[in-house]
Amino acid sequence: LIGCSNLAVEDDFTIISHRGASEYAPEHTMPSYEMAKETGADYLEIDLRLTKDKHLVAIHDETVNRTTNEKGAVSEYTLKELKELDAGSWFNQKYPDKAKEEYEGLSVLSLKDIFNRFGDDIDYYIETKNPDDLAMEKQLLDVISNCELQDNVIIQSYYSKSLLKINEIQPNIPLVKLYWYNEPRKDPLTKQKMDELKEYATGVGFNYENVNKEYIRALSNKGFEVHPFTVNNTNDLEMLKERGATGAFTNNPDKIKSYFE
Ligand code: G3P
Ligand code: CA
Repeated sequence: LIGCSNLAVEDDFTIISHRGASEYAPEHTMPSYEMAKETGADYLEIDLRLTKDKHLVAIHDETVNRTTNEKGAVSEYTLKELKELDAGSWFNQKYPDKAKEEYEGLSVLSLKDIFNRFGDDIDYYIETKNPDDLAMEKQLLDVISNCELQDNVIIQSYYSKSLLKINEIQPNIPLVKLYWYNEPRKDPLTKQKMDELKEYATGVGFNYENVNKEYIRALSNKGFEVHPFTVNNTNDLEMLKERGATGAFTNNPDKIKSYFE
């Protein structure tokens, strides 16, 4: 229609709720994921780490310092010990204008907590945050299978070794290779690199501020899902979509969703 956005219908665009609706609630907590689900996001994004007693938990950082009331490496806490921490009050202190009493004392979530709460009512975009030891991949696939959620997940990682291991064990799960660029990138990924990725990945994710339109177009032309992060405003969303993005990670899925309405 004349005067209306020429973007494709929203069904074509994947909205990935980054650590939940993390602009409005403490990341990786139940209110954050609940809010993401309520907005109609397609995927809940979950960063995964292993506890001392080898449980899979949803925490972004290597330590609990930023997002709880305690200090130390996640890997030095048992699940029970992690569950005793307060994973919500930091948000109230950091963002007083968004603070809510109900965020005080929120729990760290295990992957199973999240699966048990939402089941197959939504899909999950899960990141393996283990660099070298490849200790979580088999367990992650087992949890997904036990919960019968094979058709509801994408697995993402900055580490190709992690994705290759998953692909070896269970080749049908869609995989997304992540890239982080500290400096502006002048060129697209090479044809050789894209061919290599095509062997196991269905998509590519990257921090979009440091790539140009040729980078995005090349991935799109190659048939990859193209998922930039973290897209929190509709101007950038529109630009990225025009260049060939097929979805986006966002902290405010409500804004992205309403753009398409
Ligand atoms: O997983 C991709 C997106 O989440 C950006 O990376 O650092 O927030 O896990 P990060
Ligand atoms: Ca992530």
